[in-house]
Amino acid sequence: MTPRADAIRSPARRWRDAGQWHSVPAFAKVNLGLEVLGLRQDGYHELRTLFQTIALCDELLMKRSSDGSVRVSCDHPQVPTGADNLVHRAAMELRRFAGVEAGVEIDMRKAIPVAAGLGGGSSDAAAALVGLDGLWGLHLGVAGLYPLARRLGADVPYFLVGGTALGLGRGDEVYPLERQVRAHIVLVDLEHPVSTAAVFERIDARLTARENSNRIFRFILRDLAGDVSAMRHLANDLEEAALEEAPRLAGPMRRARRLLSDGGAKLASLSGSGATYFGVFDRHEEARRSAASLRGAGFRAIVTKTLTRAQYRRAWAERLGRKRVPAQLEVPSPWKSQTSK
Ligand code: C5P
Repeated sequence: MTPRADAIRSPARRWRDAGQWHSVPAFAKVNLGLEVLGLRQDGYHELRTLFQTIALCDELLMKRSSDGSVRVSCDHPQVPTGADNLVHRAAMELRRFAGVEAGVEIDMRKAIPVAAGLGGGSSDAAAALVGLDGLWGLHLGVAGLYPLARRLGADVPYFLVGGTALGLGRGDEVYPLERQVRAHIVLVDLEHPVSTAAVFERIDARLTARENSNRIFRFILRDLAGDVSAMRHLANDLEEAALEEAPRLAGPMRRARRLLSDGGAKLASLSGSGATYFGVFDRHEEARRSAASLRGAGFRAIVTKTLTRAQYRRAWAERLGRKRVPAQLEVPSPWKSQTSK
């Protein structure tokens, strides 16, 4: 059943009140840079990526179900709501992991384009884990949820952290960075869902012995130390494979990149395996004007901005009804110790 707007509990109220809907945001990400280093023995690819959360978000409304069942509904026709849904899987796995019988009803309101390289499904799953940790009173916190997040998908652990972060391994070893990127973002939704697995499969044919790029490390050292020009050297190794997978995107991508660059973007790139293109701008006004010119050329453009890790966690904490970020949302230090599980 879909909740009525007036039945959604104000954040100041207690999280665990029975029968009340609670709202948890699930923010999107872009990959400011993505390098594919090789094929791993587990069939995944070894990555080095620079994740960045943005303000565009889905919303998960959740309440305890009286009969102990797990039910997921969604306002987007392309999102499955059964056992295949990542949020459904997150709830079932958390229940098993924590050994509880509690149930939940989750209604998802999608704003993040689906299968677009913005991490929407992974973010929804991470938000479900954090929300259920509160709703079911489990107190696992970010550290306790990490191994579960990892099982659900390579990008899910990142969404337990948020902000500007380095992703290594499958992308699931996440290192929050000290300096956080603050910028305005224009998303160009090319409205063509692309399968991540298919893009990664195509990249295997291109993996040749080469010296590993150190663009991301250079960026971390220089840009985050104040040299903003370094961002333009970042790139996404999946771009060519995404174009092979969806050749009809070649023209639109080229046009989108040109419009973003002409509009003053200091980086214009594909996010994840696509097919969302994005531009990074210093000023809101530039971003707004660039989006207007993209719309004039027939593109669907969204203006948003980056969220730092502190802003990301604060947004969660507010919805969880806390003035301060609660201890269980703190990212453990060193985060590394969690990755060996
Ligand atoms: O982990 P997730 O299910 O989101 O990944 C989707 C698919 O993308 C995987 O099944 C895999 O084929 C591919 N992938 C990969 N290497 C990564 C991440 C994802 O090959 N590091």
